[in-house]
Amino acid sequence: MYSNQPLQLSPDIFWVGVNDTETPLFEGLWNIPEGVSYNSYLIKGSEKTALIDSVHEKKAQEHFEKISQITDIFKIDYLIINHMEPDHTSAIPALLQKAPNIKIVYTPIAQSIFKKFYGIDPQAIVIKGDDMTLSLGNKTLHFIQTPWLHWPETMSTHLQEDKILFCCDAFGAFKKLPQGVIMESDIDMEKQNICECSQKYFASIFNAQREWVQKAIEKFEKMNLQIDVLAPSHGPVYTQSVKETLSRWDAWSKGTYKKTVVVVYGSMYGMTAKCLTAIAGGITEAGGTMNSFNLSEVYSVDALTALVESPALIVGTPTYEHEIFPKVADFINLLRTKKFSNRCAAVFGSFGWSGEATRKTASELAALGFEMVGEPLPIYGNPADNDLQKARQLGKAVAEKAFSMNNVK
Ligand code: FEO
Repeated sequence: MYSNQPLQLSPDIFWVGVNDTETPLFEGLWNIPEGVSYNSYLIKGSEKTALIDSVHEKKAQEHFEKISQITDIFKIDYLIINHMEPDHTSAIPALLQKAPNIKIVYTPIAQSIFKKFYGIDPQAIVIKGDDMTLSLGNKTLHFIQTPWLHWPETMSTHLQEDKILFCCDAFGAFKKLPQGVIMESDIDMEKQNICECSQKYFASIFNAQREWVQKAIEKFEKMNLQIDVLAPSHGPVYTQSVKETLSRWDAWSKGTYKKTVVVVYGSMYGMTAKCLTAIAGGITEAGGTMNSFNLSEVYSVDALTALVESPALIVGTPTYEHEIFPKVADFINLLRTKKFSNRCAAVFGSFGWSGEATRKTASELAALGFEMVGEPLPIYGNPADNDLQKARQLGKAVAEKAFSMNNVK
């Protein structure tokens, strides 16, 4: 069931997006129990009509029904594609069948990707540089190159008269919208957990591109871009906390940390896990708190999300067939893919008959750019009192070192 009602942002601007609560893993990777919205906006100017971004093909019909309540799809003049990922574009081939005269507005890289994804090359206005605008009559769209938000082809669209920035993926959140609302002012943001959903989205989609988030925010400031409304393509539209939202993403992308240590671990029979209480004690002694994640029980993205605001990572790994425990190895691979580093780190773990995993894990983390604290702590079998003492010391040493960094508040 869904509501096929479009939502109004202002008299001439409508949300014609959709909520998706059926997809278990976004990009086939990230669990999204909170759902996700694909936001698309229809702008009716005095002379021309433009659609900003589209939706996933599996929601095309719902999307088209919403548009049809505002205008004949055939009469849409422009489709602005800020980003080519199929969650925003895979409904477009069907849209083009209904509106073959529509002009696509996108960057050269987006044009190239579009041809390769969908095998068609529609009539287009290709955006280069930061000076191009498009008049809808009484409304003007200004296009700004914001590459790598989230792919290399991305741009942002500023509606000058209404001071709305359509920023596609950037500043979004993994969160379906509550029934019938889109604007922050109509949503209980705390109850809906929007900050946490946005942090999870940042960890999984944007951490690898964080330097580009910085560049985009700096560019908006340098251009003195007037932003009263921030309209991303996932999650709520920000109307009251635009500055706070930009600041939050600025802090996440710069690496501004709290006094926390993330501990991720695997544990086959509970021996590696027995060190957690001791490690937590050491972290507490250093004035911080531990966020721990058993990788056999939780999704890795939950640990990555916590790591966004943490200056330290401690990894616990049993040795498995002479190797790093596979769940831990997968997590390290995600750290590599999503470019998490610039933090303090340490490793511990139990073994039964060989103990290579802690050394191998430490070596991989160091290669990623983590600053290793102390030596890896391999533990033969069940941790004895002296092992637990060493684990506590390791927790304390990592926390003290990490908390002395000047970007820890
Ligand atoms: Fe929402 Fe990068 O797509």
